[in-house]
Order: sequence, then C-alpha cells, then structure tokens
Amino acid sequence: MAEQSARLRIAPGGASAPVSLLHFAAPQPPAALKTVTAMTKQLEELLESNRLWARKTEANRPGFFTNLLRQQAPQYLWIGCADSRVPANELVDLLPGELFVHRNVANVVVHSDLNCLSVIQFATDVLKVKHIIVVGHSNCGGVSAALEDRRVGLADNWIRHVQDVRNRHQDWLDTVPAQRRVDALVELNVVEQALNVCGTTVVQDAWARGQEVVVHGWVYGLHNGLLEDLAMTVGGAADVRPAYERALAAVRERFSG
Ligand code: CO
Repeated sequence: MAEQSARLRIAPGGASAPVSLLHFAAPQPPAALKTVTAMTKQLEELLESNRLWARKTEANRPGFFTNLLRQQAPQYLWIGCADSRVPANELVDLLPGELFVHRNVANVVVHSDLNCLSVIQFATDVLKVKHIIVVGHSNCGGVSAALEDRRVGLADNWIRHVQDVRNRHQDWLDTVPAQRRVDALVELNVVEQALNVCGTTVVQDAWARGQEVVVHGWVYGLHNGLLEDLAMTVGGAADVRPAYERALAAVRERFSG
C-alpha cells in the first residue's frame, strides 16, 4: 500500500520527484493484479462477441438500437429460473425490447420479495404487459435440493419456499415414482408460484380496475427444448381458484402411475 501511494505521487512530478522514491518507479504488479488481468483477458472474447452481435443486429434491422432507446413496449413478463440452460429470450426467439424478465433460483415468487414484486409492479403498471408467465424447467437444481433436503448454503433459506410447496403436496408426491418426483415438484412449484403472482396486490389491483393481464404457468424441458403450458391460466380474480384446481389436477394426471 505504501509502495503504491509513493508511486502515484511520483507520476505527475516526473524528474522533480524525490530521489529516495525513484526506486518505486517500475514496480512489479502484485500477484492479485496479474490474476485479475488474466481473468479480464478471458472476457475479451465476450466483448468481441458483443461487438459482432451489435453490428449484425444493426445490419439486419437498421435503426434497431436507436428505436429501442426511445421506449420498450414488451407484451410479456417472464419469471423464470436463473439456470444458465434456460435463457428466456432465446427460448421464445424474442429480441431485446420484447420480453421483460425476472429470474431467480427455482422461479420463486414470494410476497415479501421486494425485487420480484418491483419487477411485477413495473411490468404491470408502467409497461402494461399483457401476460405474466412463470416458467419452471425439468431437472431444476433448486427444486431437486428442496425435494431431497440437500443443503447448498445460504440459498437453503430461499429454497425453503419450494419446500413449502413440497410439504403442501407431500402426500401426493409420495405416490409419484421416485425418478419423476423432481419434475412433478417442478410443475407443482410453477402452479404455486403462478398462484402467488395472482395474489399480489399489483395483479389484484390491475384486475380490479379492469386491466387485461393474464397469468400463466409453463414448464421447459431441458431434454427437448420445448415449453409446455400447465393450464394455470388466470385472467381475473374469479378465475384463480378454478384454474389452480384444474392445473393441479392436470399435474396429478401426468405423473400418476
Ligand atoms: Co432451475
């Protein structure tokens, strides 16, 4: 630290710097700095890819970025898992500006999570999205950890919400063959989190003032790249309970036997 500050003091002064400090003029970078530099070089590839993508996008659609600069008008809010294998825009082939996205571990919607609630509120009240879609995916690591009481660290406290879902449906889950139980809980979790979206004051208020916004539950298959609609489709307060019961019955139907 002392070496660093001495060197910094020399820089502007040049030749007039005190002789006693000159031996600091060409220090070796500390080991940590070398590591950071090497790691930053790894990212140059990403930055180069970004430059190519921006150039290609602008060539295909002249004015694409300047148009987006003025406003975004997405029709959809995607609430999905943070898993790197489930990239929202790519899966539905939507461009920047077309999908508003919130992702977290195991696509959980908690009534006290200011982050998720803020996204839902902005999407509903300001952007006026037409659809809010909760998207789970097969083989979800967070859901699997919840199912098997596997400790992963701090995230256990987050995954606890998925365990609440597991506990609520424990009796039925016990009847599902063990190798299909994770995917059964993935689907139950989507239905329950979509129900939570319906229960937010934001969505309740939107429906009360007659705004058209429909909540959906989907699941993505890692094995085939396909999205499936779980029929948890809710367009108003009166639809919530029937849609929930229908979607749960459909999950039970798919995984029984
Ligand atoms: Co996941």
